[in-house]
Amino acid sequence: MTSTKTTQLRRIRFSLWILVAAAVLTLCGVYFVRTIGVREPSPPVTVGEAAIRTAFSLIDHNGNRVTGADFLGRWQFVFFGFTHCPDVCPTTLAYMANVLDRLGGEIERVAPIFITVDPSRDTPQVMAEYVQAFHPKLIGLTGTEAEVAAAARSFRVYYEKMEEETAPDGYLMAHAGHIYVMTPEGGFEDVFREGDQSAEEMATDVLASMSGKR
Ligand code: NI
Repeated sequence: MTSTKTTQLRRIRFSLWILVAAAVLTLCGVYFVRTIGVREPSPPVTVGEAAIRTAFSLIDHNGNRVTGADFLGRWQFVFFGFTHCPDVCPTTLAYMANVLDRLGGEIERVAPIFITVDPSRDTPQVMAEYVQAFHPKLIGLTGTEAEVAAAARSFRVYYEKMEEETAPDGYLMAHAGHIYVMTPEGGFEDVFREGDQSAEEMATDVLASMSGKR
């Protein structure tokens, strides 16, 4: 396949994702099935990929203030979720770890980032324990509610707190399940979702991006 065609397909795929995200949001847990028809969160339908930027000010899992600028110069994998997530987050982070392990030496050029959408429970210490269970390179980020909201806006990521009696503390966080791949300049490169392609395929795509072959 030519690189032009590959790029076209990627753009088509991204556009489709935006449409899909508008209609069917990836939610954490079967608890939300009954709420999908009731709540329609505002979809990012008017947003182009150019608007998505690595821009935030948060606290890393070691307790240090970091901004998007600290990660420029490396490719970034960015995923939003929360540590109490029953399914999407652990599955996606395990998948991301699998992809990282397929990058060989190129892993040094990648910053894999997990940003919580549940900062009141996901303190730096909680994040440290959580991310270390998945991959030694994984960076956990948290912050105030406002800082997390601003970070999510810069990636056009949806999340929402939802009451759920049977969940710990009586709530869950619904959130999008995409892994963004961002360029060393902090711009949008690609988006993946666990289950849409194998870890091998995502690793191959990312390595092609990193070598400038796509
Ligand atoms: Ni989750």
